[in-house]
Amino acid sequence: MTDADPSIAAATLSWHDQNARDLPWRRTRDPYRIWVSEIMLQQTRVDTAMEFYGRFFKRFQTVHDLAEAPLGDVLKAWENMGYYARARNLHKASKEIVARFEGVLPDTVEELESLPGIGPYTARAVASIAFDLPVAPVDANIKRVVARLKGIDAPIDQAATRQRIEDLAATLVPVKDAGLFNQALMDLGSVVCTPSTPQCHACPLPTYCRALEKGMQDSIPVTTRRKPIPHKQITGAIIVSSRGNLLLARRPLDGFLGGLWKLPGGEKKIGESLKAALTR
Ligand code: ADE
Repeated sequence: MTDADPSIAAATLSWHDQNARDLPWRRTRDPYRIWVSEIMLQQTRVDTAMEFYGRFFKRFQTVHDLAEAPLGDVLKAWENMGYYARARNLHKASKEIVARFEGVLPDTVEELESLPGIGPYTARAVASIAFDLPVAPVDANIKRVVARLKGIDAPIDQAATRQRIEDLAATLVPVKDAGLFNQALMDLGSVVCTPSTPQCHACPLPTYCRALEKGMQDSIPVTTRRKPIPHKQITGAIIVSSRGNLLLARRPLDGFLGGLWKLPGGEKKIGESLKAALTR
């Protein structure tokens, strides 16, 4: 935000000029499309989001189309991308944009953050990419780049370190071309400053990088141990009615995969048999 080290921004932007990934949401200035792309990219890989991006806008060309569509249509367009709360919030937010902002995506971080599904990261990504506001969205890629650049060897998954990195990231953002710069850092993190074996020989910032200077590019960022992924045993029944229809149950809207259909059944408790769980 302060343009503290303009040479870092200049070197990053000129690298990006030569190396930018050609991504569909970079060919538009439409804040609506940029917002939707950022929601897709919250939990979905770039390659997968690209597959859904074009199809989504064929069906919902404007924020009004999205607001007026039944939720089922929005969930259908989101099918297989996962994390369906995103689609529900997108739909809810589109109605608010129509009701509160006359169908125009707001252009401040505060107003963006007031919409469902838009947190601090997404608000700053949209504000910088769509409106060129000099703010810093800090995703996993940018967090790693900044941690290495500034030689931060405290665990980056701790709140205090995260705040420190966010403050430092904000000092790097140039006053002009903030959106381009942020996307350049995302690209740098995903193709050069990678989690393991960073490609420092291909980096535009070696002279600024404290981790490289200290030979710590492989040990930064430091993380504390993660919680293991839970594994659950689920049982389900295939029930066909006398008229030949498959009976399905709808998941509660506010839970896992909310609003989607499933075979009737549920989670097996410890010590319970699959059959007993299904009966229950
Ligand atoms: N991840 C989140 N936002 C992105 C963007 N605009 N470009 C590439 N990767 C991203």
